[in-house]
Amino acid sequence: MCGIVGFTGVQQAAPILLDGLSKLEYRGYDSAGIAVRNGENETEVVKAKGRLKALAEKTDNGATVLGSCGIGHTRWATHGEPSEGNAHPHKSDDGNVVAVHNGIIENYLELKEKLTRKGYVFYSETDTEVAVKLIDYYYKKYEGTPIDAINHAMVRIRGSYALAVMFKDYPEEIYVSRKDSPMILGIEDGESYIASDVPAILKYTRNVYYIGNMELACVRKGEITFYNLDGEEIEKELKTIEWDAEAAEKAGFEHFMMKEIHEQPKVVGDTLNSVLKDGQFDLSSVGLSEEEIKDISQIYIVACGSAYHVGIAAQYVIEDLAKIPVRVELGSEFRYRNPLLDPKGLVIVISQSGETADSLAALRESKEKGVRTMAIVNVVGSSIAREADSVFYTLAGPEIAVATTKAYSTQLMATYILALQFAKVRGEISDETYKNMIAELQTIPDKIAKILEDKERIQWFASKQANAHDVFFVGRGIDYAICMEGSLKMKEISYIHSEAYAAGELKHGTISLIEDDILVVGVLTQPDLYEKTISNMVECRSRGAYLMGLTTFGQYNVEDSTDFAVYIPKIDPHFATSLAVIPLQLLGYYISVAKGLEVDKPRNLAKSVTVE
Ligand code: F6R
Repeated sequence: MCGIVGFTGVQQAAPILLDGLSKLEYRGYDSAGIAVRNGENETEVVKAKGRLKALAEKTDNGATVLGSCGIGHTRWATHGEPSEGNAHPHKSDDGNVVAVHNGIIENYLELKEKLTRKGYVFYSETDTEVAVKLIDYYYKKYEGTPIDAINHAMVRIRGSYALAVMFKDYPEEIYVSRKDSPMILGIEDGESYIASDVPAILKYTRNVYYIGNMELACVRKGEITFYNLDGEEIEKELKTIEWDAEAAEKAGFEHFMMKEIHEQPKVVGDTLNSVLKDGQFDLSSVGLSEEEIKDISQIYIVACGSAYHVGIAAQYVIEDLAKIPVRVELGSEFRYRNPLLDPKGLVIVISQSGETADSLAALRESKEKGVRTMAIVNVVGSSIAREADSVFYTLAGPEIAVATTKAYSTQLMATYILALQFAKVRGEISDETYKNMIAELQTIPDKIAKILEDKERIQWFASKQANAHDVFFVGRGIDYAICMEGSLKMKEISYIHSEAYAAGELKHGTISLIEDDILVVGVLTQPDLYEKTISNMVECRSRGAYLMGLTTFGQYNVEDSTDFAVYIPKIDPHFATSLAVIPLQLLGYYISVAKGLEVDKPRNLAKSVTVE
């Protein structure tokens, strides 16, 4: 939620800040602002409600804002409506401290009362203004350095934050601190960069530092010094980002989502090949030994949103192949229910961003309970990746569209790999089955590419469904897991109400919602369950529903029982999710486009959910 950037160097800051914000707009887009220090040591703050475009227009793409040190913000409202007044940056009463913030300050009301008693006056409804004034208060009270002031504030603040702060007395410097919200710091040619995420600075540098939780830094031109909460200097290693800058651009596609859908054959293949050596999986880079794999008594998969849907699909595959019991839980539920965890269990947290607050909290809760943890994560160096005992990195590259596609697909691949390796190490499958199944996984990239070749058919169908009010996705077993993701893709970007239903549950209530022309999408990739689900679909048709059937080519003739049929290539049913999800991603995408909606930035959503 919210994106922050900062720059101090010799170039004009504002165009760089706006460019960086344009790469972070997926994190929030209801208002934006920048603050830049000019040569006379004045700070110019410009803000605009709405998309970043409004701010760019107001400042002629940054050209009218002079100065070479500044901070910027794109907002996803938490406290206070989207408005210019609530937009960041915020400043202290006398303009001594100016800051941008990503996160939530939970005790802001209590702090606001304290500051009001001390004479501070508040102009916005935000928690950020409270943080700014708290820092200003400590700066003046103790007459220390900016690091001392921020340290004092950090001790008083409860919640999460990535803060970038400028002090009037330190003209070319930006001070940053973070707790549970992402931030990276980059450095190149005597200039320094601050950002919530890699794409914002990739054009300028690949040399980055990852600032740790409860740490601070003083960012000067081409020089960054890190501190702990006691104000002591700490050393950090400079890391190189491997991502390709072009990967963060649209590459000729109309939307990032479509580009990312098309990247799936490559990134799914990359993720598979990253651990495939001489026809076998080698999980040494992941950090799981054979002894540890043999020792696992129970797996707990914890995740949110689409990553949770990956977990649901993985549950079927892992239990069936490796015969290890699997529980799948939502991060937001797991963290508050005091879960009973088997000491020999393995908690697998799945997350694209590696920053999702609930998933991170679940990981910490598991570690506190002494259970081994593993993360399946896309963003290198993210909090979840750093804190888990071992990490399986998916190689999806930067995912910009808010609705996930390629990260989801690579997460699925990671879970298949784990399922197969666990099954082999524990002696649950023969060497031959292992080999055959790996060969089957290797066919997935080409099969996804094949499905994409036929996307116009889905586009045509989507144009007919653009006025739908309700869509039901029904399936059983793995097909139900696919439905969950198909339904989420539909509702989040096309704003059509949709539900995923275990087909056998329809008769227990939901079927009363079926009426004339309601679209029911049946997912039918599991041979043992095909007849059952078809029967449930036909029951819906008898009540007026319009049926779309999604099944495996050559396996069934679904045209006889449905109004519109979509076929995916043949695949071992364990891995069908990887193929069946593609037409459903396309369906959500094309309906959103047909309705003229903002596909990459759906309303009310943000890419990275770093608040509860
Ligand atoms: C939906 C979507 C979200 C994320 C969820 C978890 O398209 O993208 O549901 O899957 O917010 O995010 P990560 O994977 O970053 O933890």
